[in-house]
Amino acid sequence: TAAMTAELQQHIREIPDFPKPGIIYRDIAPLLASPDALRAATEVMAAPFKDEKIDIVAAAEARGFIFAAPMAILLGAGFVPIRKPGKLPFETHSHAYDLEYGTDELHVHVDGVQAGQRVVLVDDLLATGGTMQACCRLIERCAAEIVGCSFLIHLADLGGEAKLEPYRVESAIVY
Ligand code: PRP
Ligand code: MG
Repeated sequence: TAAMTAELQQHIREIPDFPKPGIIYRDIAPLLASPDALRAATEVMAAPFKDEKIDIVAAAEARGFIFAAPMAILLGAGFVPIRKPGKLPFETHSHAYDLEYGTDELHVHVDGVQAGQRVVLVDDLLATGGTMQACCRLIERCAAEIVGCSFLIHLADLGGEAKLEPYRVESAIVY
């Protein structure tokens, strides 16, 4: 609901000119530290998928993990981590993607998600969409089905949603 969104928004701290001049950083630390807001955020992010059969909630470290594990519990699903290079011990699929400066890479265990499983992908923030696009490519490599992507915050001016087509995108708060 709109009231719920407004309530969540009150727990996001705006820090002007971080990490550089002209950027407003949306700091979720106050939301995470509030027992009510943390629970509400997790519930709002899970709600669009509560009537679906979801096998796995997957997310990229670090901030995606915070919301994904409690959402998995709410949705009766398991949790699968998507991680930066050198962290996962077993065989992985990897996907490299461009950043503003340089490139980054994410990995998932080859047996992390089984073919045909229904997956919700989660992150705290949709900005350029590069991170979530990489997550989608990894889940596709596992031949699993992406039911949708759920974010706490969507910065709509940055065009990230277009990178996630044709998948369903849900966000608790849009700026
Ligand atoms: C942040 C955020 C998202 C991503 C969004 O992660 O948690 O994952 O950026 O940006 P994008 O849509 O432009 O890809 P970051 O890479 O800073 O790492 P962290 O989660 O480990 O803090
Ligand atoms: Mg992140």
